[in-house]
Amino acid sequence: MSIFVTRRIPESGFAVLRAAGVPFEVGQDDDERPLAHEGLLRGARRHPVLLCHLTDRVDSEVLAGPPTLRGVSQMAVGYDNIDVAAARGLGVPIANTPGVLTDATADLAFALLLAAARRVVEGDRFVRDGRFVAWGPNLMLGAGVGPAPDGAKKVLGIAGFGRIGKAMARRALGFGMRVLAWSRRREDTDGVEWIELDELFAQSDFVSLHLPLSPSTRHLVDARRLALMKPTAFLINTARGPVVDEGALAAVLRARRIAGAGLDVYEREPVVHEGLLGLDNVVLLPHLGSGTIETRARMAVMAAESALAFVRGERAEWELKA
Ligand code: DGY
Repeated sequence: MSIFVTRRIPESGFAVLRAAGVPFEVGQDDDERPLAHEGLLRGARRHPVLLCHLTDRVDSEVLAGPPTLRGVSQMAVGYDNIDVAAARGLGVPIANTPGVLTDATADLAFALLLAAARRVVEGDRFVRDGRFVAWGPNLMLGAGVGPAPDGAKKVLGIAGFGRIGKAMARRALGFGMRVLAWSRRREDTDGVEWIELDELFAQSDFVSLHLPLSPSTRHLVDARRLALMKPTAFLINTARGPVVDEGALAAVLRARRIAGAGLDVYEREPVVHEGLLGLDNVVLLPHLGSGTIETRARMAVMAAESALAFVRGERAEWELKA
């Protein structure tokens, strides 16, 4: 029994595998590039358990073998890269790494919100370009995030109110914002006002997305919803790129129909819509949501433990419910 680790993981995960004495093979040792699909197929034929990443397309061909996989352990909370229906049909269990990346991802979402509102990246470029010649009363003014001098609160609308959405709410409440939230299942939380999705887009100064990608959330943020936003509002996406129609977003940003955006994820990752690349009112990051040393180290341990459970034919602690 052995494990195919599709790409190099943090050392903490390898330490767990080594301590268990279970053989494993690493498909791709290069941190820059994902494993090609043929490599994934080859690895899945040689090893009955996969430890994979969101860059691996785990489709029915990968799952079915022969031999059929005994388990798929994904080092991420999102698993839209895995054909879950096919896995269920074949009886292949899937595990992910929930909970551990909640705060890291909410931190990054809030960092994007602040960076977009206060023009942090633009300001950095301005200084490096040698354009900072003097302090100015009108120099590079941004949008306030905390309460205005008259006490007026900025409104954050959170679409998707799971663990990360709630962590985002805690941060926003700490900053003195008014917080609105929507998700499919209503959940009342202190200090947070429940609202319908279209109203959330219309009333918020900042909209932050925290929804998993599924057929019902693909292009949830389309041209119609973007048109509901205030011209002074910002969109923040640390969830999954295809939740937003990127072409429609590029168009409203270019026309300054909304004030700005902060994006960590893209519709055709790693390709970024070329309409976004030339705009200074969008902050672009390379999918760093869970990217802290501590969080990735723990994710690797969880993923390794799940892979070992599958090797032993046991139920993994973080296995998805059927
Ligand atoms: C996830 O876990 O789904 C993030 O997108 C990457 O860690």
